Amino acid sequence: MKEIPMEGVTVVDHPLVQHKLTLMRDKKRSTKGFRQLLNEVGRLLCYEVTRDLPLEMVEIETPLTTMMAPRVAGKKLVLAPILRAGEGFLEGMLDLVPSARVAHIGIYRDPETLKAVEYYFKAPPDVADRLVIVLDPMLATANSAVAAIDHLKARGVKDIRFVCLLAAPEGIERLRKSHPDVAIWTAAIDSHLNEHGYIVPGLGDAGDRIYGTK
Ligand code: PRP
Ligand code: URA
Repeated sequence: MKEIPMEGVTVVDHPLVQHKLTLMRDKKRSTKGFRQLLNEVGRLLCYEVTRDLPLEMVEIETPLTTMMAPRVAGKKLVLAPILRAGEGFLEGMLDLVPSARVAHIGIYRDPETLKAVEYYFKAPPDVADRLVIVLDPMLATANSAVAAIDHLKARGVKDIRFVCLLAAPEGIERLRKSHPDVAIWTAAIDSHLNEHGYIVPGLGDAGDRIYGTK
């Protein structure tokens, strides 16, 4: 794992993550293959983003004796996919954290203005008291991520992390400026955004590639 000079940004450079990302960038990758790879990368990114969760010691009984053993402390965390593409991460992450709660955040990016348009939000009632990990494979302008985090903060959430697969430098800068308290995990930082707000070299439209809608 490599910490780049920008504070609060972790590039997960694990060889398996980088290998799978390369397979996903290939425009010939099938919908089925793309979806499967995102699931696998989601699992690996989940491992990294939860690496520093606090532990507490509890007494348990093994078949031989009692002992004090560590377990994750506090309330169950919340995985918050930004629809649609964020859902591609969900299954793999729930494999690792099966008791996590889920908050669905419905946001799409207007293709003309690139502004975020919110259409759905459903979270556990006590979301404000939990760590929320926002999931979206793509951080481009960051309009979607900033809107999702604005919404969570308006509901009182204080502890938020953001996980993506690919980030543009522009998106990282915007998200860090808008929400400096929200750390970012990404598999790669690409070169730039093109005139349509797509990440270059990127992998295209993540939602379309996951769901075969284009
Ligand atoms: C994509 C992607 C992000 C957003 C990133 O979603 O999944 O949510 O664009 O772009 P931004 O950082 O410039 O906001 P899209 O709007 O295509 O919706 P979809 O997931 O339903 O396909
Ligand atoms: N959304 C995507 O799905 N891909 C991009 O490159 C930018 C935004």
